[in-house]
Amino acid sequence: MKDIEAFVYQNGVLHADGVPIPAIVDSVGTPTYIYSATAIRAAYRRLEAAFSPLGVRFQYAVKSSPNLHLCRLMHDLGAGMDVVSGGELDRAWFAGAPTAGMVFAGVGKTDEEIRSALDGRFHTLEGISGLPEREPESRGPVGILNAESTSELERIAYWGNELGVRPRVCLRVNPDVDPHTHEYTTTGKEENKFGIDAHQIPEIFDAWGRDRGVDLVGLHVHIGSPVPKVEPFAEAVEVLLELVDELERRGHKIEVLDLGGGWPINYVEGEVPPLEDYAERLVPLLAERTQKGLQVLMEPGRCIMANSGVLVTRVQHVKKGRGKTFVICDAGMHSLIRPALYRAFHFVWPVAWTGEAPRLLEDPGLPGLETCDVVGPICETGDFLARNRQLPPMARGDLVTIFSAGAYGMSMVSNYNDHGRPAEVLVDGDGATLINERQPLATVLATEQQTRVLDLDRP
Ligand code: LLP
Repeated sequence: MKDIEAFVYQNGVLHADGVPIPAIVDSVGTPTYIYSATAIRAAYRRLEAAFSPLGVRFQYAVKSSPNLHLCRLMHDLGAGMDVVSGGELDRAWFAGAPTAGMVFAGVGKTDEEIRSALDGRFHTLEGISGLPEREPESRGPVGILNAESTSELERIAYWGNELGVRPRVCLRVNPDVDPHTHEYTTTGKEENKFGIDAHQIPEIFDAWGRDRGVDLVGLHVHIGSPVPKVEPFAEAVEVLLELVDELERRGHKIEVLDLGGGWPINYVEGEVPPLEDYAERLVPLLAERTQKGLQVLMEPGRCIMANSGVLVTRVQHVKKGRGKTFVICDAGMHSLIRPALYRAFHFVWPVAWTGEAPRLLEDPGLPGLETCDVVGPICETGDFLARNRQLPPMARGDLVTIFSAGAYGMSMVSNYNDHGRPAEVLVDGDGATLINERQPLATVLATEQQTRVLDLDRP
């Protein structure tokens, strides 16, 4: 599995870095997300190296894998944070990232969220235990707010004025480019809710510039996730660069271009071009401008986390159907929704395996396999992790690995059917740390149990 270097079979079992996965499961149970710090560091360094000629500042897309300890690891590696809600802002700050190094995106920011992005004293963490003693300057206005409408600009200006700060803002451009990805994660086409039509950008800069309480400092784009081809990225950057020329002709100074995220990974071997191909195409488009002082930002999530994490689940039952076998696990759409929601492919293989190392393919082409659906316990037919896969015969009690699950796995879990959420473990070399205890359902029920009769004002 050359795309997944941190997870390898040794002595008949899958290891995460140097740690045998069954040992982790013996300690914390299933389902459990397991991340490799080594893989995360390597993926980040690779990204840095690919885009080094541009001096890119990377903003880690917290939504991809938001665990506090993963945010902290990204912060320690030198990344800023890309947050899309007041909750993510508080989380990333709680993890140790200063707000000045964050970009705050999102199409529907509430007044409260805009305030919390600008007001250092306003957050939702009062009373939380373990809130670190932080220097006051770690929490001030966020580095950049990415605005997606003039309505939002008005609210940002309002709060800037109330609080006596000048928010730095990029306008998110909708370049009308097809990223060739799933329709639900396509974000840069005209019919999508995201961004502002490129044609409207110059007049908004003329009207707002730096005179109405906000500093419009640049442009933002994010066309989709993942973007499995190089060319749509280049097209989007070209739209941005034409706009920069036009804006500069009109006397606006553009300091920042935020190119968003969307860098893909191989869920299937050889599925997408290597990251370096994207860099090779984009660096020449931008190099001259970065040399003159333009700051390029990128907001990667998946390409760092997806292949740095797996989900491990235990087979509860095996049922022979007509023509296929159902492998029924304790993980399902509540633990990893990507297969159900996007028909996404995740390679699945038993944790115990003594044969030839499987390749990351729909059919690894090994002898003795049978056609299986790997499914969860949820009362929906859409609850599957993998369908029509060629897998070795499995039995009740076996452990199964769902690969490439480190991004948009844990961040999209739910308690549907009142199942608990997975635990999370971070492995680093020979050590393993529980970074998120499995939440007992009791915490959900305790909140529900607290009722309060509402004292309503009625006209
Ligand atoms: N920046 C913006 C504005 C975004 O909307 C996103 C992802 C990113 C950056 C990070 O993109 P990445 O580098 O991770 O591709 N749940 C879906 C993916 C949704 C992506 C949402 N936005 C999935 O499981 O595939």
